[in-house]
Amino acid sequence: MQTVRTIADLRAQASAWRQGGGRVGLVPTMGGLHEGHLSLVRLAREHADHVIATLFVNPAQFAPNEDFDAYPRDEAADGDAFSNAGAELLFAPDIAEVYPPGHVTQVSVPGLSEVLDGAFRPHFFGGVATIAAKLLIQAMADVAVFGEKDYQQLQVIKRMARDLDIPTEILGAPTSREADGLAMSSRNRYLTEDERAAAPTIFAVLQEITDGVRGGVGADDLCAIGRARLLDVGFRDVDYVSVVDAETLQPATDASRPARALAAAWLGKARLIDNLPV
Ligand code: PAF
Repeated sequence: MQTVRTIADLRAQASAWRQGGGRVGLVPTMGGLHEGHLSLVRLAREHADHVIATLFVNPAQFAPNEDFDAYPRDEAADGDAFSNAGAELLFAPDIAEVYPPGHVTQVSVPGLSEVLDGAFRPHFFGGVATIAAKLLIQAMADVAVFGEKDYQQLQVIKRMARDLDIPTEILGAPTSREADGLAMSSRNRYLTEDERAAAPTIFAVLQEITDGVRGGVGADDLCAIGRARLLDVGFRDVDYVSVVDAETLQPATDASRPARALAAAWLGKARLIDNLPV
């Protein structure tokens, strides 16, 4: 697999593939790869002839007190894993290539970005929407794949691409889980052994909520019980346990529309998020 570090080289390869009649797929990541990322590459490969993976730990989506410095970085291992999963090109730019001196433009997606994670990480979705817009415009791929594990991020990116008329189709990929249900995440490696044992409770709580809602129990009661259960098993803080409209992410008031149950909670150093369709 070839690695390129400049936007010019990325564009040259992507447009050569397109001119040859090939469909191009894009899988943006920050590295710290696990099976979930590789499933994104495989899904992209099903929808495209050539897959570009990107590796860029985006400083704009971390607040100063967050884990930007600690975020796992291993380009050689990630490159091998991408290549084995079917990616043909790795775009791994330096920070100055992405944000040259004087870079000031920000993309924001109001509304969708302010609820749930946005209420706890106010800087986050602006940083994500900006880098996602840049990567989509840089690669001009036919299709780009993002994980449903970051469900709110996926909705923000879909809306941003639609509103900015970016012609890339945005696909969501199902969440990859460990055998005990824990959603795969680069941040799971921050968990101690005891925390790792408690971590799947976030998935169990979401399952209880989705089963309960389907059985006619009120979502608010189920979310309150879920929050208490997370604290009981050792989560130190619960940012939210919510059932919302699957598209607008506003409170789910219309039972005829699809809804989504989402949770975010702190276990030791790790902030875990997960979600399930209701
Ligand atoms: O989900 C991620 O890894 C990142 O938020 C993304 C979409 C690659 C943007 O930096």
